[in-house]
Amino acid sequence: MTAANTSAPQFVILFGAPGAGKGTQATLLAEQRGWVQLSTGDMLRKAVAEQTPLGKQAESIMAAGQLVPDDIITNVVTAHIETNPLQLGYLLDGFPRTVEQAQGLQEWLEKKGYKVNALIVLDVDEQKLIDRLLGRRACANCGKGYHTSTGVPKACTQCGEEQITARKDDNITTIQERLQIYHKQTTPVLDYYASRLAVAHIPADTTIEEVKDAIAAVLPL
Ligand code: AP5
Repeated sequence: MTAANTSAPQFVILFGAPGAGKGTQATLLAEQRGWVQLSTGDMLRKAVAEQTPLGKQAESIMAAGQLVPDDIITNVVTAHIETNPLQLGYLLDGFPRTVEQAQGLQEWLEKKGYKVNALIVLDVDEQKLIDRLLGRRACANCGKGYHTSTGVPKACTQCGEEQITARKDDNITTIQERLQIYHKQTTPVLDYYASRLAVAHIPADTTIEEVKDAIAAVLPL
């Protein structure tokens, strides 16, 4: 094992069920700290939109709410970091979500002399998760997010695009599959890390601002 590297970037995992707010909080933290947000869901959606070989393979898996194979996704993440090196920190959003992915990440980090510095779990009641996902909308052009509970404009307030749509996997059947997979395949990742670092649980069914403050309290600048 390589000795710990003192100038190493920080690696923080944002963990939680679909709709827990991982993407929302990772975006805020990345802006605040000048870190890089690594969302495996966003990377895969981009690959699907561009119909790359990865996107073609992932498309039906994602539509069914299942997981893309572990070796593929671990390689996607580590290759992305290799091509964006020397950052202050990386916010891992949606990865690792199996024990095999956590092991793959750990092996790669150890080779580099890096480590996972913190793991933050966003805890949200299941009905609230479903409401958040069913109401989520995004601009088809610039990706700006909206929610039906707070109102969806006729045209995007950022770019003027009129197509503001729901994600394909935000329907009740796929949401239920995603939640089941989270409980069966993703929550064991918490046991994997329990002996390695302090896992911080944040009650995340409060407002976006309150969750942001709670994260800042366990992850000081
Ligand atoms: P991914 O995109 O990662 O989806 P997910 O984990 O299901 O998470 P979401 O993006 O749906 O939710 P989130 O927690 O980011 O919540 P958000 O901030 O958006 O993955 C999609 C698919 O890709 C997977 O199903 C799988 O097929 C594949 N995949 C991805 N990673 C993979 C991996 N590592 N291995 C294998 N396959 C992988 O918030 C949701 C909504 O709630 C938004 O509208 C937001 O505005 C709102 N909201 C957030 N916080 C609050 C709050 N505090 N109060 C009120 N509203 C809030």
